[in-house]
Amino acid sequence: MKFDKPAGDNPIDQLKVVGRPHDRIDGPMKTTGTATYAYEWHDKASNVAYGYVVGAAIAKGRITSMDLQAAQSAPGVLAVVTAKNAGSLGKGEKNTATLLGGPEVEHYHQAVALVVAETFEQARAAAQLVDVQYRRERGSWDLAAEKPGVTEAPEDQPDTHVGDFNQAFSSAALKLDASYTTPDQSHMAMEPHASMAVWEGEKLTVWTSNQMINWCRTDLAKTLKLPEENVRVISPYIGGGFGGKLFLRSDAVLAALGARAAKRPVKVMLPRPVIPNNTTHRPATIQHIRIGTDQSGHITAIAHESWSGNLPGGTPETAVQQTELLYAGANRFTGLRLAKLDLPEGNAMRAPGEAPGLMALEIAIDEMAEKAGIDPVAFRILNDTQVDPANPDRPFSRRQLVECLRTGAERFGWDRRNATPAQVKEGRWLVGMGMAAGFRNNMVMTSGARVHLDANGIVTVETDMTDIGTGSYTIIAQTAAEMAGVPLEKVVVRLGDSSFPVSAGSGGQWGANSSTAGVYAACVKLREAIANKLGFDPNTATFADEQVRDGERSARLADAAADGTLTAEDSIEFGDLEKQYQQSTFAGHFVEVGVDRATGEVRVRRMLAVCAAGRILNPKTARSQVIGAMTMGLGGALMEELAVDKRLGYFVNHDLAGYEVPVHADVPEQEVIFLDDTDPVSSPMKAKGVGELGLCGVSAAIVNAVYNATGVRVRDYPVTLDKLLASLPDVV
Ligand code: MOS
Repeated sequence: MKFDKPAGDNPIDQLKVVGRPHDRIDGPMKTTGTATYAYEWHDKASNVAYGYVVGAAIAKGRITSMDLQAAQSAPGVLAVVTAKNAGSLGKGEKNTATLLGGPEVEHYHQAVALVVAETFEQARAAAQLVDVQYRRERGSWDLAAEKPGVTEAPEDQPDTHVGDFNQAFSSAALKLDASYTTPDQSHMAMEPHASMAVWEGEKLTVWTSNQMINWCRTDLAKTLKLPEENVRVISPYIGGGFGGKLFLRSDAVLAALGARAAKRPVKVMLPRPVIPNNTTHRPATIQHIRIGTDQSGHITAIAHESWSGNLPGGTPETAVQQTELLYAGANRFTGLRLAKLDLPEGNAMRAPGEAPGLMALEIAIDEMAEKAGIDPVAFRILNDTQVDPANPDRPFSRRQLVECLRTGAERFGWDRRNATPAQVKEGRWLVGMGMAAGFRNNMVMTSGARVHLDANGIVTVETDMTDIGTGSYTIIAQTAAEMAGVPLEKVVVRLGDSSFPVSAGSGGQWGANSSTAGVYAACVKLREAIANKLGFDPNTATFADEQVRDGERSARLADAAADGTLTAEDSIEFGDLEKQYQQSTFAGHFVEVGVDRATGEVRVRRMLAVCAAGRILNPKTARSQVIGAMTMGLGGALMEELAVDKRLGYFVNHDLAGYEVPVHADVPEQEVIFLDDTDPVSSPMKAKGVGELGLCGVSAAIVNAVYNATGVRVRDYPVTLDKLLASLPDVV
């Protein structure tokens, strides 16, 4: 189904099942431990052997020798795989560094060997016996040190210019010129990267944990130089991804190579301390923002440049994209700067682009509002735009930022905020409120599905879509139930298998809208097949209560499949509506913090998100997405940081003991409000992404609240107490 003009009325608008807060249909399996995760497919292969990864002990250089003998003769060892004995390997389209390194080492903990043994413990013990000698080379590991030499945009991501920024900024009545930094961050999904590989002749099946089945499959085929049809990838349950499982990673490649070498099924799980350096991370940024306004606070000039680093061939963190669209202003300039760094590969993590971009921009806006003497909510409303500022003929399909901000201010009690910092004291606490705008673009992706109706009236949906803890199973079931006119209990959803039609996958908050739109398309075809079978006009037949009706006539839905299951398949393909409309999602984030006057400890006390993100397919699963994202924003504001060893070039705190994320005790009262925001431009579902929106802007709202509480403006994330202590108001 081609989607190239805004959706009209369709069966989804009935909202009998869609739009309702159904519990997750996969919830009971997850809470009883019967949902099978990547390392748990005990019944799918017998005689399974275990692989343990050896990660490079240097960040850059060459392996000069590798002595495998001790490892090979250790108890239980079946094989030791290295780049030297693995045969000729390709590299995945979406991988920057190779997943099995050697002799060249591109980053710390790049896999250089896999030891396969009868048991996990034997493999782990033998991995310590692999004797690797290196010649260490000097690399670039310090973004701030590289920054002065990086002044040009990457070739494929040129600067954007609207009007004349320099002229407008120099003549602006009020100006802000400030720099902000965000650190490297790690996804830290609960479930580690894990895979089990089974060969049958030249055919490979990999049970893994991956957000994008088809990307994984095609890149695995490419890496192993196999025809794609010989590779099957299965990943129905995923314990969190956050971008860290968007791509083929070393666990899957090494499980396949290990299984080939040992001639046995092989499981590989990346140990937690290997994950941050072996896989991808969110790159650190240095962001330079300049804003100029007239006397009344209207933005006349805005510029945002962002520096980030990556391995050769890697991409920049696109931290400036929201600045092109969030606020009005006739003169604008944005630019990305990419330094070559020899740290592990930087890539997508939890709303790449906008999340770190808004961490800077929304502090800058708070600072600018203060310079203009305008309340930060009012300042944002004053500078709202309903059109793409670079192309005023192109409106936003829906844009309710102002409503988000107004609703949030009212619900949060913003009028009780004291605009002068460091005035509100409660015992040992300095108390403050802060807010920020939330913005995330709404991307759409081709997505396919197959649906069956059987003689019992059961509708089964098959698509390679994934559920990374987000609720995909449930919203897909709701979509099929609405379309077929059956209760939710009559729908079976099968996900995460490359033998199903290729879906949008889970990434960039496009999954819910795109994958359900694909299911919608397949269901339109199934309805046609059912109508034809039962002798109805497909254009006028209605589907409800497990019946098909047209005028006076009705028939049981299940009868259409009485003499055999009916099957239909289709995909949603998005046209170029984005040429006419800018599609984005919006939020207002409000936060109250307390800062300990003596220690500088920051405690978040209340959080509110008001979101406008198209039709909400399931308010319960959507709310879970948003409160999880708000928690990530809290982590980003106050805790999360991969510490770079700038002498040796690696992330030092590469486990959950050293890399801090929020725990329950850190997370206060959270409230989420969804505005009614049906968007016919986004898809037949009229929905948009919401998961990543829940994060975008949160960290800045917290930092702005810390400023309001203390009068200390921190521009370097995370806001740890050492950055506050020296400047806190006197205790006595
Ligand atoms: Mo998301 S960072 O595209 O999984």
